[in-house]
Amino acid sequence: MRSSIFWNLLAVTSLAAANVLPPRNYATHDYYAIHLSPSTSPLEIATHLGVAYEGKIGAIPDHYLFKAPKQDVDLVEDAVQELKRRRRKRDVAVEPHPLDAIRYNKKQKLKPRMWKRSVLDPLVTKAGPPIGDAVSIQREIANQLQIEDPIFNDQWHLFNTQILGNDLNITDVWLQGITGKNATVCIVDDGLDMESEDLKNNYFAQGSYDFNDHVDQPKPRLADDRHGTRCAGEVAAGRNNVCGVGVAYDSRISAVRILSGEISDVDEAAAINYELQLNDIYSCSWGPPDDGRTMQAPDALIEKAMITAVQTGRGGKGSIYVFAAGNGAASDDNCNFDGYTNSIYSVTVGAIDRNNLHPYYSEQCSAQLVVTYSSGSSDAIHTTDVGVNKCTVQHGGTSAAGPLAAGIYALVLETRPEVTWRDIQWLTVMTAVPFDQPSDWAKTTIGRTYSHQFGYGKLDAWAIVEAAKTWKLVKPQAWLYSPWMHIKKDIPQGDTGLASTFEVTKEALEKANLERLEHVTLTMNVQHTRRGDISVELISPSGITSHLSTARRDDDFRGGYNDWTFMSVAHFGETGIGNWTVIVKDTKVNEHTGSLTDWKLRLWGECIDPSIQTLRPLPSEHDDDDHDVITTAPAHTTAISIPSTTGIVSSNPTDHIDRPVNQKPTDTPSSTAAFEPPVTVVPEPTPSATGTPESFLPSPFPTFGVSKRTQVWIYGALGLILLFCASLATYLYLARRKRLRNSPRDDYEFEMLDDQDDDEARQSVNGAASGRRGKRRAGELYDAFAGESDEELFSEDDAEYRDEIPEHEEFDEKLALRGDGSVSDLDSGSGSGSGASRPRR
Ligand SMILES: *[C@@H]1O[C@H](CO)[C@@H](O)[C@H](O)[C@H]1NC(C)=O
Ligand SMILES: *[C@@H]1O[C@H](CO)[C@@H](O)[C@H](O)[C@H]1NC(C)=O
Ligand SMILES: *[C@@H]1O[C@H](CO)[C@@H](O)[C@H](O)[C@H]1NC(C)=O
Repeated sequence: MRSSIFWNLLAVTSLAAANVLPPRNYATHDYYAIHLSPSTSPLEIATHLGVAYEGKIGAIPDHYLFKAPKQDVDLVEDAVQELKRRRRKRDVAVEPHPLDAIRYNKKQKLKPRMWKRSVLDPLVTKAGPPIGDAVSIQREIANQLQIEDPIFNDQWHLFNTQILGNDLNITDVWLQGITGKNATVCIVDDGLDMESEDLKNNYFAQGSYDFNDHVDQPKPRLADDRHGTRCAGEVAAGRNNVCGVGVAYDSRISAVRILSGEISDVDEAAAINYELQLNDIYSCSWGPPDDGRTMQAPDALIEKAMITAVQTGRGGKGSIYVFAAGNGAASDDNCNFDGYTNSIYSVTVGAIDRNNLHPYYSEQCSAQLVVTYSSGSSDAIHTTDVGVNKCTVQHGGTSAAGPLAAGIYALVLETRPEVTWRDIQWLTVMTAVPFDQPSDWAKTTIGRTYSHQFGYGKLDAWAIVEAAKTWKLVKPQAWLYSPWMHIKKDIPQGDTGLASTFEVTKEALEKANLERLEHVTLTMNVQHTRRGDISVELISPSGITSHLSTARRDDDFRGGYNDWTFMSVAHFGETGIGNWTVIVKDTKVNEHTGSLTDWKLRLWGECIDPSIQTLRPLPSEHDDDDHDVITTAPAHTTAISIPSTTGIVSSNPTDHIDRPVNQKPTDTPSSTAAFEPPVTVVPEPTPSATGTPESFLPSPFPTFGVSKRTQVWIYGALGLILLFCASLATYLYLARRKRLRNSPRDDYEFEMLDDQDDDEARQSVNGAASGRRGKRRAGELYDAFAGESDEELFSEDDAEYRDEIPEHEEFDEKLALRGDGSVSDLDSGSGSGSGASRPRR
């Protein structure tokens, strides 16, 4: 043991210099990502688990990687479960144990590659003749700026000589000498050709790494590794005699390579905030499949990497994430089904084409902040390609829109390096330019115009840089969480919807230290036999509607939303005071039906008093445990005496949502709900924290006049006796039935009771198909005879849900907790007294 510590120490000291983990070899080893409580030594945990310590995971505090020789089990999870089990069986007294320091653990596995968000359209370039005046103005500007790049004239997105104004409006920014100096954009993609004559002068090796091949330079190595280089050219192609120029042609450009092979969460997490003090902006033109069927969020580890970056990156001003909205519009895809684009930490950028038209591919969603130019109407973005002196005329899709935004943000950072990640979003909201295209444009309370298709409009480089010059920096972020609103009602089919409301009071916002809104997120659980039929709207107190979710014709997933978080940027600047109404619809009248289980609203925005505002703690696996856990902090529930109301609204919700409602008990039969007047759902009362209940069981059970603890013992003993009798009876019955049975394979669940079949089972565990089955049986047996919880029972089925919530650790645990009784409590952003904001456990 002592020597392993020694070796670990040695390993750590030798790793300390490098800020990347040693390469992984999944063929020979297993890797475990673990979050430890602060002050815990990863070496101690490594020794305890018998695994080797590999190093810290990127910049995420207290997250470490461990490795062990490859085997089928999950060493860490098994150890954690074993400790729980032994404690439950009282083999071990409940005293501190080294493994208690584990807050999150995840065995790493290689996951499918993300999709690059480019599209290749057949091109008919030079559709319209250039306008003479515009051509001479362009020539004049190029002369002034000494731009001699051969394809500059084709870069219509920089200066459009065919349709005046349909460009980034950027040349006057350059003429002021603002060209991205001292700003660094990191292209998170399939590599960057640092040998390209167009990129090599701006290439920033220190901010770059190859997470696919685990070498320093993220060079394109595969035949289709062209995407990253093209994106890089849009941002930072130099002013020279090669191809064209980038939006920020004097900025630094770095790259991390992750799209050229399967990687694990730990690599993606380390990549997405790589060198977060050197890289300012991360440009991500990829995401989960845009097939109109996928609903996928990053693992908690990746989310924590992004939060770490926005909280500590860029000297605490926050790294800036830019994500391409996605190319699935033609198959009804919506960027709120993508956990990267719907993160509050990313700027989601959609596309318009050179005619300001909506291109068929660009997805819409309430998380989309802005759009900018890309392919469509017979042209695309002209940029640098892989090769010493190579250009392309065919860079398109939302992939090409994102980097243009990243480049414009580099200009903003040169102008005002002190802006925070939230200032970048505010500046975008305040300066984006709406344009004359039919869409669902709606005026917001601060006089901006928002469309789910185009966000706040198109980016205007000149306007955002001008605004940045005098922009008053926003105060730190605050937040207010609603309680879980337990609804448990069927969703009517057709145009009507199931509506429920949560009222936010001025007092609650003050207590949360929240002055005005930026992002709104809604986490919800919906059960449904066809996910694509559901849609969700959120109406703010000011009457602004966010279409959080829209129906998707190809999404046949048999299941609804499981703790999925939708996001909206349509409420920037609202106060948030008043009733927030959620309307869930089942738009298709068919055999597929469902019900709304619960939802939780989170309002994020600018704080009132910065002196008391703290940073959001890294989310933990237990953040949503208040789902069903009874709180013992009544102080939080008093602030929210407002019940949620549910009812039906017609397709014109404003007719109904504000009307008075009749009081109804919560147990209204759900089958009739669709035809009833709106009902009020009162959150279940919080048991007093101080009052000791007389009985630990409901009243029909006698208390024997003894203490609660003794009652537990009496009923526990009775329960065990009953359980034993039942088990014995079951055993005898099954043994008998087994003897009578013809086909021994019919009900394998009980095979382990029979020695002969046990051997058979052991053999089949080696087969890929039956491996899970073996585990499942063990789980069931344990459950039946050792009083185990249903955690393992549930995990047998969770593969079915993978599509929806891949790598969602909380899931098993939370479901296991269901049925413990439930209560709602107000989780405002402000900690008691101090006004410090943190989600409560
Ligand atoms: C473009 O930039 C010019 C300054 O060069 C500015 O006057 C104008 O308002 C900007 N926006 C548009 C849409 O032209
Ligand atoms: C460039 O940025 C670094 C930090 O990113 C800062 O320390 C330095 O002062 C900046 N230089 C200029 C000229 O703005
Ligand atoms: C919110 O809705 C409830 C119930 O419909 C109503 O009593 C209350 O007055 C509303 N609050 C506001 C601010 O409109």
